[in-house]
Amino acid sequence: MKVKARAPSNIAFIKYWGKKNEKLRIPANTSISMNLSEAYTETFVEFDNKLSKDLIVIDGKSVEGNEKERIVDHLNLIRKMAGIDTFAEVVSKNNFPKGAGMASSASGFAALTVAGTKAAGLNLSEKELSVLARLGSGSACRSIPDGFVEWKTGVKSGDSYAYSLQAPGYWDICDTIVVVGEKAKKVSSTEGHTKAFSSPFYKARILGMNKKVKEIKSALKNKDFTKFGRILEEEAINMHTVMMTSKPPLFYWLPKTLEIMQSVITWREEDLETYFTIDAGPNVHIICLSKDVKKVRIKLKKIPGVKKVIVNKASEGTHILK
Ligand code: DP6
Repeated sequence: MKVKARAPSNIAFIKYWGKKNEKLRIPANTSISMNLSEAYTETFVEFDNKLSKDLIVIDGKSVEGNEKERIVDHLNLIRKMAGIDTFAEVVSKNNFPKGAGMASSASGFAALTVAGTKAAGLNLSEKELSVLARLGSGSACRSIPDGFVEWKTGVKSGDSYAYSLQAPGYWDICDTIVVVGEKAKKVSSTEGHTKAFSSPFYKARILGMNKKVKEIKSALKNKDFTKFGRILEEEAINMHTVMMTSKPPLFYWLPKTLEIMQSVITWREEDLETYFTIDAGPNVHIICLSKDVKKVRIKLKKIPGVKKVIVNKASEGTHILK
């Protein structure tokens, strides 16, 4: 059976950085995110008896080496669950630059999980899909459910999964992704996670997490945008401080990244309420209420060196395409 699925990328407001269990990708802390309407991966999977190996094509290029191995490992998990040993053809397309800190692994593994399990004849629940997607890439588990999502850390594999806190239409907030660099990053997030513990600030980060998660969930519940924005911006700076103070240090920002962060702070002083967050890459995500998104676009047009702007609303999670 040929199956195609579309999975959104997601932006974390409370981040996942550092794992309790590296192999099982069980995170050191709970994270909170929103699925993105305009940044997604579409993946087609077919298990075919005629194949003598797995064929994997991403964005028109055949994938080999470590990248292929990681995908084949995931296909092996699916084959094991389904009790089959057939090879697969996987064709995947991102509508945004891969490997530039825009969570292509999240949408990629979420789409692969949903299309792959269905193509293998499995019918998994949302929870089971989220657990499985997590084994491919941690943040992928958050791309499975709809809208605003919580991924509780969990103790063992079966209880580390994401679920929806609110539907996509719940709150009209936008994430404007400001693309300032499209090159694949030098240090992948998988490698970065292993360095988190070497930062002298990591313990403090983890100690403050439960309170932060509680506060942002209450801001989401009350639609208190000012509180929500302050927490998510402080959180991004907190994670990047850990990254920059790890051994060896990880600098994901470019000079443009900092320029945009500073612009966001200035706009706020001018009463345009915007906040920033940044993942493991140079691109800045500007969070605002949708009524302000036009103004943000106009401001960004005046900044030279902005390569692309992608405006997202909250979206549904991963689904099969007919
Ligand atoms: C900075 O999910 O990409 O984007 O599990 O090793 O694939 P792996 O890592 P990944 O890490 C995401 C890190 C982050 C923060 C976040 O999205 O929570």
